[in-house]
Amino acid sequence: MSHHPASSTLRIFATADIGANAIEMLRQKGYDVEVYPRIEAPSHEEIVAQVRSGITALITTLRDRIDEEVFAAGAGTLRVVAQDSVGVDNIDRTAANRYRIPFTHTPEVLTEATAEFAFFMMGAVARKLWSSEELVRSNQWGTWHPWHPFLGDEVTGKTVAVIGVGRIGRAFAAKCVALDMDILCCSHRRPDEQLAHAIQQEMNLRFQSGLSRRQARIRFVDLRTALNESDFVSLHVPLIRPGQGEHPTWRMINEETLGWMKPTAYLINTARGPVIDEEALVRALKENRLAGAALDVFEVEPLPTGSPLRDPALRDRLRLFHHFGSGTRETRLDLDPARGMAGRCVQALLNVLENNYDGDPARMPFVVNKEAFVSPAAPGAR
Ligand code: GLV
Repeated sequence: MSHHPASSTLRIFATADIGANAIEMLRQKGYDVEVYPRIEAPSHEEIVAQVRSGITALITTLRDRIDEEVFAAGAGTLRVVAQDSVGVDNIDRTAANRYRIPFTHTPEVLTEATAEFAFFMMGAVARKLWSSEELVRSNQWGTWHPWHPFLGDEVTGKTVAVIGVGRIGRAFAAKCVALDMDILCCSHRRPDEQLAHAIQQEMNLRFQSGLSRRQARIRFVDLRTALNESDFVSLHVPLIRPGQGEHPTWRMINEETLGWMKPTAYLINTARGPVIDEEALVRALKENRLAGAALDVFEVEPLPTGSPLRDPALRDRLRLFHHFGSGTRETRLDLDPARGMAGRCVQALLNVLENNYDGDPARMPFVVNKEAFVSPAAPGAR
C-alpha cells in the first residue's frame, strides 16, 4: 500500500488552463490538479460539483460566477479561490466572508498591458485604423486624396479624461504624457497629489526642452468636468454594483452622463462592460452625440449576436474587442509572480495552501477579502 494514498493528496480544480507551466509547477509540488479540458467555461453546476467533491483550491477566471452556492459547497474543505485576473466582480465577497474562504487576484502584473491597450484603442478609433485597413483589403482604395474617403481625428495634444485613478488609470495617464495630452483625472478618492506632481513635472520638461510644442497640464476634477472638457474618456474603475459599495460604478456612463460629453469625443472602455449603459451608448452614437467609442468589455461576454453594438451603421465609429486588454504572452502566461498573471495566480494560491505569512490570509499580498481574517480587537483594547 502506498504511504501517500490518493485521498491525502490535495486536489485543485482549474476552470481554465491558465498556462501549461503554471499547471506543471503545481503538479511538481505534489498537488493533484484537474484542468477543465474545454476552451469554454464549465457550467456553474460543474463548478459546484467540483467544489462539493472536496477540492482544496479552485482556480477561476472572470467568466465563472463564484457565488454563495459555490462557497457553501466548499464549507470546511475549500481553502482558497485563486482568480486569474485583477477584477473580481464575478466573486461574491459577502459569501466568501461568510464561509471565511480567502479569494485572490492578480493585480499589478497586467497594469501596463491593459493601460497600453486602452491607449492604442484611442488611436484605433480616432485614426480609423479598422476603416483604413478595410478599405485596402476590400480593394476600395481608389487614390490618395486630401480628404476622401474619410479623415480621422488627431490624438496628440488633445484632452483625455482618466476615470478611475488606480493602478491602470495611473499607468494609462503616464502613457498619455507622450502624446502631449492634457489629462483630467477623476476619482472618488482624495486627489493623488504625488501623481499629479510627477506627471506635471514630466509635461513641463517635455515643453521646456522642446520635445513638445505645447505645455500640457494635469488636474483632478469631478466627473462632470472630466466628461465636459475632454476629447477622450477612458474608464479604469472596477465594477461596483449598486449596494456593493459606497461608490457604485454600474452604468456610471448612461444617458445623462453621455450628455455631458462633447459630440466630438470618444469613449474608451477596458474596465468592465456594465460600467456603461450600452443601449444609451448606441443611441448617443447613432444620434451623433458622440464621435465614437472603443470597447474591450461588455455587459454580456462574449458579445451576443443580436447586440445593438453590432449595428453596421456604427462600424466605422465603434471598435469592438474581445476582452483582450491583458492579452499579451508575457502578462497572461509568465510564471514569475512579478511578471505574469499565471505566476501571480499560482503564488497567491500557494501562499494559502503552504501557510505562508504564518498562514494568515490578512497578511497575504494577493488576498482580496482580507477583512474576513482580521481578528477582532481584544475586548477593551483601544
Ligand atoms: C481582466 O479583465 C482582469 O480583470 O484582469
